[in-house]
Amino acid sequence: MARDIISLDDLTVNNVGVFKKINQVVLPTTYSEEWYKESLEADQIVKLAFYSELPVGAVKAKTINSSHKIVSYENMQQQQINSKIIPNAIYIESLAVLKAYRGLGIGKKLLQFIIEQSKTRFVHEILLHVHVDNTESIEWYEKQGFTKSQDIIKDYYKAQGLENPDAYILSLTV
Ligand SMILES: CC(C)(COP(=O)(O)OP(=O)(O)OC[C@H]1O[C@@H](n2cnc3c(N)ncnc32)[C@H](O)[C@@H]1OP(=O)(O)O)[C@@H](O)C(=O)NCCC(=O)NCCS
Repeated sequence: MARDIISLDDLTVNNVGVFKKINQVVLPTTYSEEWYKESLEADQIVKLAFYSELPVGAVKAKTINSSHKIVSYENMQQQQINSKIIPNAIYIESLAVLKAYRGLGIGKKLLQFIIEQSKTRFVHEILLHVHVDNTESIEWYEKQGFTKSQDIIKDYYKAQGLENPDAYILSLTV
């Protein structure tokens, strides 16, 4: 049987540099060295996507408790769930596909992995922040069944130096 042209694989010390490069090229936000180091830990929800063996996309997510208020991008990146708090959602920290490889089903495959993870972890909500001007991604997530928050999270990306620092929350019930 022929191998699927799109495949997902684990992050390792050998390909973490590619993960970093994909995020740098695609996303307007920056992640710390600590964040990349943490990505290699065994409990992380992270995958690289390959198109015909070429690494072209990636996703990283974590479990959270969505009743805890999140005020800024930095606050979200640093937030670690206390082991005593029961997670009730998966938060997508980054989801990126290289421009030349979009529209081929790679983003959907990465999202499918996150949906499977939410099921194995018994959580029923998937959340993410998205820049208010990122209309294309908002429309993409809405097509995948996500709902956009009514409220805007003011200044969410402020320290990232983005022109308009506000964000929406997108959520999917699974
Ligand atoms: C959002 C993103 C991850 C999507 O990845 P992708 O690989 O292009 O997505 P896919 O090819 O899997 O999407 C396929 C589906 O989305 C639809 N689609 C593609 N582009 C779309 C768009 N701009 N708006 C709405 N739907 C879209 C396709 O029609 C297809 O739907 P179907 O399966 O029902 O026919 C990618 O565009 C990206 O990296 N964007 C920039 C990064 C970003 O802003 N990330 C969000 C913040 S974390």
